[in-house]
Amino acid sequence: MPKTVVLVYSGGLDTSVAIPMMREDYGFDRIVTVTVDVGQPAEDVKSAEDRARAMGTEHYTADAKKEFVEEYCWPAVKANGDYQGYPLSTAIARPLIGLKAVEIAKKVGADAFCHGCTGKGNDQFRIEYVMRALLPETPIIAPMREHNYTRTEEIEYARVKNIPISVSADKIWSIDENLWGRSIEGGHLEEPNYAPPEEIFQWIKGIDAANAAPQILTIGFENGVPISLDGTALDGLSLVTQLNKIAGDNGVGRVDIMEDRLLGLKCRENYECPASTVLIKAHAALEALVATAAERKFKLMVDQQWGELAYYGLWFDPLKDDLEAFIGKIQERVTGTVTLRLFKGSCVVTGRASEWALYSEDLASFDSKTFDQRLSVGNVQTHGMQSRMYWALKEKMGK
Ligand code: ARG
Repeated sequence: MPKTVVLVYSGGLDTSVAIPMMREDYGFDRIVTVTVDVGQPAEDVKSAEDRARAMGTEHYTADAKKEFVEEYCWPAVKANGDYQGYPLSTAIARPLIGLKAVEIAKKVGADAFCHGCTGKGNDQFRIEYVMRALLPETPIIAPMREHNYTRTEEIEYARVKNIPISVSADKIWSIDENLWGRSIEGGHLEEPNYAPPEEIFQWIKGIDAANAAPQILTIGFENGVPISLDGTALDGLSLVTQLNKIAGDNGVGRVDIMEDRLLGLKCRENYECPASTVLIKAHAALEALVATAAERKFKLMVDQQWGELAYYGLWFDPLKDDLEAFIGKIQERVTGTVTLRLFKGSCVVTGRASEWALYSEDLASFDSKTFDQRLSVGNVQTHGMQSRMYWALKEKMGK
């Protein structure tokens, strides 16, 4: 029986280096590589395939784009998914990548998993959690973490072992891409006070290069799910793909934040999140029209908790189901349209409409008598009664 390991393979440096290691240092004779297509550039998927074959592995590519949009991005929209200003693009793809690796592991009868995550990031937690949840007996090897390698040491190892990688010591950015966004790390960006150079951005134009005229866009939602662009019904994958281009051309969706990683490491992070930024903004605007004040206030807490769970990668946590039960109930009314104006990096909601709107122009208008203003008199007099009592007492006691 060959000793089989399933390696989650991106085609990048960390995971390519893992291939000879699995053979030489860990004694596996059957290396099965799995690349999950979540919308990273098609040439990356192809070059991962080519590299894996060149290095003699048994390779699988899982096209998970549709599943990613419908089962990961859409729940994120419903929860206005955010962590510290980051639309969670890398985070929500990791459970799906883990899931696909588990499917292949079951199919090939794997004796172990291997991944290329380092010991500093969040991905080790996200990916191992899914593997352990679904195949608890299968050991997980993380050679990069075990060896405590620096990036420079890895590049040197790759050179010695003749690994066909395209990174070099002067190609410094570490990139992660999928349909929900693009993350750029490393190099000078690790210095929080260093302004991100234009060269790191590939999806979103800078203010100077962005479209010269504003673009008005209408997004249709049904039960919290985006279903159309400017009145044209679109499947999820097409909608996200088109919106990435439109928002990117208008300079919308660049993110530059300090992020608190799971381990407590504070890190400077840059993202390009065009479609996710616009969709979440639009979705939140529609919720503001259809949800009660109390629901909105409560949902802010639920959304925040959802965002944290998603960031931690705890995709199968019962709390996530519980939160989604609440989120899903409200989404039954999140149907309608939102109009936005995109221009030179700004994205502003200019209109919203829904059959479920808890809004009556007739009640709110300055020009209407439907709401008898005299009804407010008693309410106004009792408003803040306890705080008035407090101030009166303070005065009385001379405090
Ligand atoms: N900090 C982000 C996260 O944990 C993104 C990490 C992406 N990795 C990269 N090599 N750019 O979700």
